[in-house]
Amino acid sequence: MEVVILQDAATIGGVAADAIEALLHRKPAAVLGLATGSSPLAIYDELAARRDAGRISFAQARGFTLDEYVGLPADHPERYRTVIDTVFVNRVDFAPGAVQGPDGLAADIPAACAAYEDAIQAAGGVDLQILGIGTDGHIGFNEPGSSLASRTRIKTLTRQTRVDNARFFGDDLEAVPTHCLTQGLATIMAARHVVLVATGRGKAEAVHHLVEGAVSAMWPATILQHHPHVTVLLDDAAARRLQLVDYYRETYRSKPEWQGL
Ligand code: GLP
Repeated sequence: MEVVILQDAATIGGVAADAIEALLHRKPAAVLGLATGSSPLAIYDELAARRDAGRISFAQARGFTLDEYVGLPADHPERYRTVIDTVFVNRVDFAPGAVQGPDGLAADIPAACAAYEDAIQAAGGVDLQILGIGTDGHIGFNEPGSSLASRTRIKTLTRQTRVDNARFFGDDLEAVPTHCLTQGLATIMAARHVVLVATGRGKAEAVHHLVEGAVSAMWPATILQHHPHVTVLLDDAAARRLQLVDYYRETYRSKPEWQGL
């Protein structure tokens, strides 16, 4: 696991965008794993700017989102599908239908989850997965207690996550859905490169467990310690509880430029 501590979200966005730009040059038909939440917004801003500048194109690329609320109407502004279209997909040049997400309105939810896993497989798997992390250590919506071997499925949201996300629903906890569909931890682990972003002191405890804690379903992101290629991009506040912070800084400082993430 590579831990990179940078000064702010914009710098993190640039470093992550560098990795995605390199991937798209190497493999124009790359498959990206897309996350919602505030953490990846700087990455999407930077990618949209680079697309506008003609540096990169998503015309041949594909995308798969991580998760979706169950039952939000198709026109609801907080539906993750709508959110990812607004913050990223519609700002670049993906082909129509090139980005898919789990169907939170499916009549047959287990069948929809299985179909989603099949679609990811059929696309050749995810080359680079962008991730945020919840304050309780969830990735996607794999809440504490999630099977470390889980695949896309329905989950019940914890009260903590619903409280955290109530800000998107007019601070009305009752308006936050109780269930979601999410790629499982094993689904996320199958991505070839995982780039996780965390900023702010509210994430410091989750980051501490992710990087230096024991692997446990209680902190689902810790499963990433078993992944061969994970990059964790942090600001100082999110890194404040890491014991080996000086080592991570020194390692990144002395890294040869050609190496990339
Ligand atoms: C939600 C999403 C996660 C996201 C997390 C953190 O619960 N399902 O994918 O990583 O929130 O969000 P933020 O980046 O806004 O802190």
